[in-house]
Amino acid sequence: MYNIKTIGVLTSGGDAPGMNAAIRAVTRAAMYNNLQVKAIYRGYKGLFTGEIYPIDNETVSNIIHHGGTIIKTARCVEFRTPEGRKQAYDNLVKENIDGLVVIGGDGTFTGASVFGMEYNFPIVGIPGTIDNDLYGTDTTIGYDTALNTIIQAIDKIRDTASSHERLFLVEVMGRDAGFLALNGAIASGAEAAIIPEIKTEEDQLEAFIQHGFHKSKNSSIVVVSESEITGGAMGIANKLKEKGYTPHVTILGHIQRGGSPTANDRILASRMGVAAIEALLDEQRCIMIGIVNNEIVHVPFKKAIKNEKPVNKYLLDVLNFLS
Ligand code: F6P
Repeated sequence: MYNIKTIGVLTSGGDAPGMNAAIRAVTRAAMYNNLQVKAIYRGYKGLFTGEIYPIDNETVSNIIHHGGTIIKTARCVEFRTPEGRKQAYDNLVKENIDGLVVIGGDGTFTGASVFGMEYNFPIVGIPGTIDNDLYGTDTTIGYDTALNTIIQAIDKIRDTASSHERLFLVEVMGRDAGFLALNGAIASGAEAAIIPEIKTEEDQLEAFIQHGFHKSKNSSIVVVSESEITGGAMGIANKLKEKGYTPHVTILGHIQRGGSPTANDRILASRMGVAAIEALLDEQRCIMIGIVNNEIVHVPFKKAIKNEKPVNKYLLDVLNFLS
């Protein structure tokens, strides 16, 4: 029996809309179960420096609709060393924290997995990343909001693209995953998507050209995943220029990480926050909370980190049929 009395909560890695809703859910579910809650500021950095403060139901009121994370986030190099993790562990002991909820992406869970094994410490993860690239969960907190931001931006680009009959390349985030690009393209009615999971970007480009983009006659929007594999929108633009096209490039950038979370992200974050506390009380450790077919599931960190989440390639066909 772990007999958890105080939990710590942190957000780490890139922020994602809905992280605040998750912090709120974790805090309130913990307090409902008579646990104390402490916020660890700036992710693993705060664990390392001891930036840890009690929070309660009131601290997390009026945050469900805000993007970002009220407890800040950071990427921490010290936590990658055994000495850094030892200091982090000492801080947890000092603060009487006996269970952790970490909200973030695969980097966050990699750190949690190593630390959890090293110190036999109960840790539960909540997937918060706009990239949606975590194995074992259909979706991650922030993905839906980012997707909506993308389609709002593309709708606006389409107005000017069609007025001027221009070709636009719109670069979206996702690190090395194409979920945002592919579904963003379908949802905005774009003509094509170039994603890292299809490693032959030349072919994707060629297929798009064959598919009916007539030089300077039609307007067209191609959504491109940021990634070294695709070369990003600038890389594709250079290739298109060599073929005689005059593409316009828009890189959406960090606008995709901000904004008020959608209803889907708020509900997902609320469900996952409650599930994380239930899992800790149920003596689960080193697992990520996921959602599969609308049911909460528990995924060992090792599985979530190691396995690649495949994109549904059929969605590329859907995009092609409809464009
Ligand atoms: O993982 C989320 C993400 O937004 C990726 O899509 C992107 O590649 C990366 O973070 C950018 O990170 P940073 O804000 O640290 O440059």
